Amino acid sequence: MSKGFHFLTLVALLALTSSFVSAYDPSPLQDICVAINDPKSAVFVNGKFCKDPKLANANDFFFSGLNIPRNTSNPVGSTVTPVNVDQIPGLNTLGISFVRIDYAPYGLNPPHTHPRATEILVVLEGTLYVGFVTSNPDNRLFTKVLNKGDVFVFPIGLIHFQFNVGHTNAVAFAGLSSQNPGVITIANAVFGSNPPINPDVLAKAFQLDKKVIKNLQKQFWYNN
Ligand SMILES: *[C@@H]1O[C@H](CO)[C@@H](O)[C@H](O)[C@H]1NC(C)=O
Repeated sequence: MSKGFHFLTLVALLALTSSFVSAYDPSPLQDICVAINDPKSAVFVNGKFCKDPKLANANDFFFSGLNIPRNTSNPVGSTVTPVNVDQIPGLNTLGISFVRIDYAPYGLNPPHTHPRATEILVVLEGTLYVGFVTSNPDNRLFTKVLNKGDVFVFPIGLIHFQFNVGHTNAVAFAGLSSQNPGVITIANAVFGSNPPINPDVLAKAFQLDKKVIKNLQKQFWYNN
């Protein structure tokens, strides 16, 4: 075998190894990798530094208070309580997380996507009209009215929403297939970006008058 071949093999292996470390949620290469902010004497895996495993303890894997209803007095009438790697550092590299969502009557969890996670949601109280839209060119809308005990899935990356169509508060819990699913709320990202997107771009994209776009860009886009 030539030296050239060996070199190329090495390069390919290195490329594979580094993408393994940085690109994917699942398949951790160790039992635990408790995320810490201190880079000293730590290893960088899946976007976070890992705590020395000998120093890890049960509290690194613990969160309390998800039984407490949250205040939904805000412009959209819903509040998301995330439980991901930022709340439970022990979730790092494990490819899973959780949320509680509270909805006021007619409260909305507005159209958004999770760029890194599929979501499976269960309704504990109330009635939710939920849906997601598939990618181009079909843009098919899948919807369902969910009652207590009903479960629905929002596939990774697709725009989805939940709307409380009942007269009472609603509560849902959801699991997500990433320790750091990310959220892009469509209206906030498009009309509330910092700095604002050139209104000519949005006027053309949405086939709207520039005055309407400027008005939308002046709104306060609440982050629930
Ligand atoms: C809920 O939030 C609103 C707006 O911030 C506030 O006025 C209200 O007092 C809060 N309610 C409770 C019960 O904390």
